[in-house]
Amino acid sequence: MLRVSRLSAAHGAVQAVREVDLDVPKGSLVALIGSNGVGKTTTMNSIAGLHRPASGTVELDGTDITGWTCHKVVRAGVALVAEGRRVAPPLTVEENLGLATYSRRSNKADFRAQYGRVLDLFPRLAERRGQLAGMLSGGEQQMLAVGRALMTNPDVLLLDEPSMGLAPSIVDVLFETITTLHETGSTILLVEQNAELALAVSDQVYVMQRGRIVASGEPEEIRGRDEVMTALFG
Ligand SMILES: Nc1ncnc2c1ncn2[C@@H]1O[C@H](COP(=O)(O)OP(=O)(O)OP(=O)(O)O)[C@@H](O)[C@H]1O
Ligand SMILES: [Mg+2]
Repeated sequence: MLRVSRLSAAHGAVQAVREVDLDVPKGSLVALIGSNGVGKTTTMNSIAGLHRPASGTVELDGTDITGWTCHKVVRAGVALVAEGRRVAPPLTVEENLGLATYSRRSNKADFRAQYGRVLDLFPRLAERRGQLAGMLSGGEQQMLAVGRALMTNPDVLLLDEPSMGLAPSIVDVLFETITTLHETGSTILLVEQNAELALAVSDQVYVMQRGRIVASGEPEEIRGRDEVMTALFG
């Protein structure tokens, strides 16, 4: 569904991503893990059209979407939940969810159907649909950020560190939902610094170090590679 080939990206003189290859098959949950500053966000932003890659390609279901603007990428079917849960604080939960529909072609019926699905998936958002996003807890804001991405009914969902800064109990709730999405056929690329969490839920794992993919495989394979586990967990 999503294929990244030899992707390189820089921030000025900083070569953040070097010849990264990723394959995210339809219906799979693929994790990209690695410690601080290795290039995970730059990779995600390059896929989502928020950062222009220096070279390499991004293909969505066979279409080359490299270098497309983020609006076009969303319309093509890729939704990013950016690092640091960006919701609109002065708008209500419902209004935040409604914003997403401006970014992908949709009509009123689609909106109601998708809104219903998102509220079913996140009962807490259903309870708080009239509240201002700025008044929600961190975990609820992250749910809202994920819900807003889902409102575009994406073919591929990109999640950049959804667990960051959240209490463990909220992380559990969030990851149960991510698992539900996976089980119901969603295609997901998940970036996580919490490698243990990523290994527990994913079908395939890519390990990144200093801008490069240094290992990939099923979680069991990765767990069996001592040098990779040492690099991840010390
Ligand atoms: N806007 C920027 N300007 C300059 N350098 C940047 C910028 N954004 C990221 N970098 C650098 O690029 C490299 C990769 O950063 P990136 O944010 O992609 O890593 P990351 O794996 O997502 O890290 P984290 O785990 O902290 O989120 C780092 O060396 C970082 O300092
Ligand atoms: Mg990051």
